Amino acid sequence: MKRLVSGVRPTGYLHLGHLEGVLKNCVKLQDEYECFPFIADWHALTDHLDTEMLAEYTVQAAVDWLSAGIDPQKSTLFVQSHVKEHAELMLLLSMVTPVPWVERTPSYKDMLAKLEGTRQNPSLGFLAYPVLQAADIIIYKAEVVPVGEDQLPHLELCREIVRRFHALFGRKIFPEPQALLTETPNLPGTDGRKMSKSYGNCIYLNDPPEEIRKKVMEMVTDPARIRRTDPGHPEVCTVYAYHRIYNEKELPEIEEACRAGRIGCVECKRRMAEALIEALRPFHERRSYWTSHLDEVRDLLREGAEKAGKIARETLEEVREAIRLFR
Ligand code: TRP
Ligand code: SF4
Repeated sequence: MKRLVSGVRPTGYLHLGHLEGVLKNCVKLQDEYECFPFIADWHALTDHLDTEMLAEYTVQAAVDWLSAGIDPQKSTLFVQSHVKEHAELMLLLSMVTPVPWVERTPSYKDMLAKLEGTRQNPSLGFLAYPVLQAADIIIYKAEVVPVGEDQLPHLELCREIVRRFHALFGRKIFPEPQALLTETPNLPGTDGRKMSKSYGNCIYLNDPPEEIRKKVMEMVTDPARIRRTDPGHPEVCTVYAYHRIYNEKELPEIEEACRAGRIGCVECKRRMAEALIEALRPFHERRSYWTSHLDEVRDLLREGAEKAGKIARETLEEVREAIRLFR
């Protein structure tokens, strides 16, 4: 079976964007691939040094993976920092990675732009972010990596590093991993922008139904609708974008009623919130199981790290040999 690697960064609680974009896609592919879903806690450190909540976010992300339907019998769920081999491989890959390659990545350039004029500098760890990511992937000889578009440059760089490694040491060890561009439903945040913690527009996976209702009621709608009878434009409405995903059943009716000015946004939001909560019900049920069985989660993560570590060590043996380190 081909292998698949997929990571999330625990820089906060995971939100609906993670569930729809990453978690569900990995769950769906569990039977086709040998999957390695993991929590990239070292990657979280690259730009989040406020670590008070890091362990909490990490274990909660594991709960989210499991609640999304990751089956520990099929997939290997683990925490990045528990498999130290990732770090050794990253170190070795860093030797074959020219600095300009990492300086060119959009995420690094964005960070530079963000820090300009603040007298702060990105860390060496941040610069090396894609090298660590490459190690995460190729240490399992993964062939596919389900990611969003923003990660494509990192995947491209990963393949370049692989090619360079092979050319330098004259041995092919790794497949060149391909991005699996998932048809991520375009799930905006409550304000219509991309869902992101830094915008404060997230619906979190641990938000209880009451909180979801509240956030939905605050969502932006079609700004052209002032009165209930004003004709609406569902295509520009965030609430409608959610109806599309979570309320297919009522979609045609809502579209029509909105365009005709026959439904108020308040009612429309109420219906969407209920549909969303209903759609999340199986997830929430599993979530409440796992949050009350955190010891079991910890055990699974320990076993996952052992299983992952075994494969990682085998790969590293080949790598050390290819590099001709004294053994
Ligand atoms: N960079 C990824 C993100 O921000 C997280 C990540 C780290 C990852 N290592 C990975 C994703 C390896 C896929 C494979 O979403
Ligand atoms: Fe959006 Fe619904 Fe209001 Fe139409 S009625 S603008 S779809 S919230």
